[in-house]
Amino acid sequence: MKKVYIETMGCQMNKSDAERMYGMLDYLGYEQTEEPKKADMLIINTCSIRQLSEDKAYSAIGVWGKWKKNKPDLKIIFSGCVAQQDGINVLKRAPYVDLVIGTQRLYELPELVKKIENGERIVSCDEKPFAESSIKINRAKSVNAWVPIMEGCNNFCTYCIVPYTRGRERSRKPELIINEVKQALADGFKEITLLGQNVDSYGKDLEDYQNLSWLLTQINNIDGKFRIRFVTSYPTDITEELINTVIELDKVCEYFHIPMQSGDDYILKKMNRRYDYKTYKEICENIRNKIPDVTITSDFIAGFPGETEEQFQNTLKAMTELELDYSNTAAYSPRKGTVAAKWVDLYVPEDIKTDRLARLNEHNRECCLKSNQKFIGRNMEVLIEKFESDKNIITGRTRNNKIVHIPYNRDLTGEFIEAKITSARTWYLRGELVE
Ligand code: SAH
Ligand code: SF4
Ligand code: F3S
Repeated sequence: MKKVYIETMGCQMNKSDAERMYGMLDYLGYEQTEEPKKADMLIINTCSIRQLSEDKAYSAIGVWGKWKKNKPDLKIIFSGCVAQQDGINVLKRAPYVDLVIGTQRLYELPELVKKIENGERIVSCDEKPFAESSIKINRAKSVNAWVPIMEGCNNFCTYCIVPYTRGRERSRKPELIINEVKQALADGFKEITLLGQNVDSYGKDLEDYQNLSWLLTQINNIDGKFRIRFVTSYPTDITEELINTVIELDKVCEYFHIPMQSGDDYILKKMNRRYDYKTYKEICENIRNKIPDVTITSDFIAGFPGETEEQFQNTLKAMTELELDYSNTAAYSPRKGTVAAKWVDLYVPEDIKTDRLARLNEHNRECCLKSNQKFIGRNMEVLIEKFESDKNIITGRTRNNKIVHIPYNRDLTGEFIEAKITSARTWYLRGELVE
């Protein structure tokens, strides 16, 4: 049997795409391998969110190009967001690539692979999305299954490449999603994470308009003990109905990922985010008042073009004031083709960006520790994700997405247990099994 290796970079959407590619390739007779050197087909599934991720993709593939000299039958595929963005230009930088396949052509993979097996070289990055496939997905071994419900973005934040790499918002049909969830549960998955660049825009483009609350209700009605999560929420698209749905549905977890990006109103406007700090704060407080143990996580960018020290400090203040439980942080990276990248005169110097990012991270660590300390002494339900037999530790997550380490000498992966939280670290809690 031929072997395929996929190197995936970037977000959960890319991870989910990789599982779909493994499924389609399995169907064509390619077995998954974790050792690139043994593979007959190598796929780099790229991310374009920052310059660094894009550079990594091209440098990783350079090594593969060298392998091809001694192994001429080796097939190299370039997929994901950089593929969608660079199209035919990928071949200029990496002439040994056999196939460039954009995010929107994912399900065309089986047909295209047959062609490259016959020696063709192909670029397929048309913006028109290719129809879905019914081929079984080869999911990564885990307790959590990623299920995309929508893809693309209509928001065009001035710093962001995603609307160009993932296209306009498209919702998947509810029947397809529900069948996929049922299959994942039948395969033993215990947690379903619904994915989308703006998950709360779900359904806006469907003929019989159905929204995220409706979809969560349908999934919650499926029999069995499992958890449901959804990411990522655009702040102002979180409706009262959605908050109530999270409260009412027993399987839907108390967790929201709501990127704020900046705590400064002027910068938010320049970013083309459709809210000011006050609005974000009200959304956050409303959720916290209604859902006691809710975890709210966020994303922030340091050093957006034109950001002053004072404006940056508003971001630090916001993080502390809203007691955010965890935040992803990044220094602003100009992306070609986006609006903000053109504001070269306003670029914040690298050393200042680096310094701001470090301070943002320090603040984040303080917020995380404070958030974790709230749970000391509490009993919480934990879904176990792994067992480290050398350390005798089981690790899992609470409903509100806190990681818990528990001393135990048996593998309980996939089981729901109760733990008493005994101490808190920055990135995780420690607990004891309640028997
Ligand atoms: N749709 C989500 C975010 C998806 S992109 C939202 O709008 O909330 C994931 C994160 O990458 C963003 O939240 C942002 O913080 C970061 N990001 C996007 N473009 C970036 C850039 N050019 N430089 C630095 N960080 C960026
Ligand atoms: Fe990017 Fe903004 Fe769309 Fe999020 S909402 S994916 S940050 S353009
Ligand atoms: Fe990266 Fe594309 Fe995801 S740019 S973050 S892999 S949507």
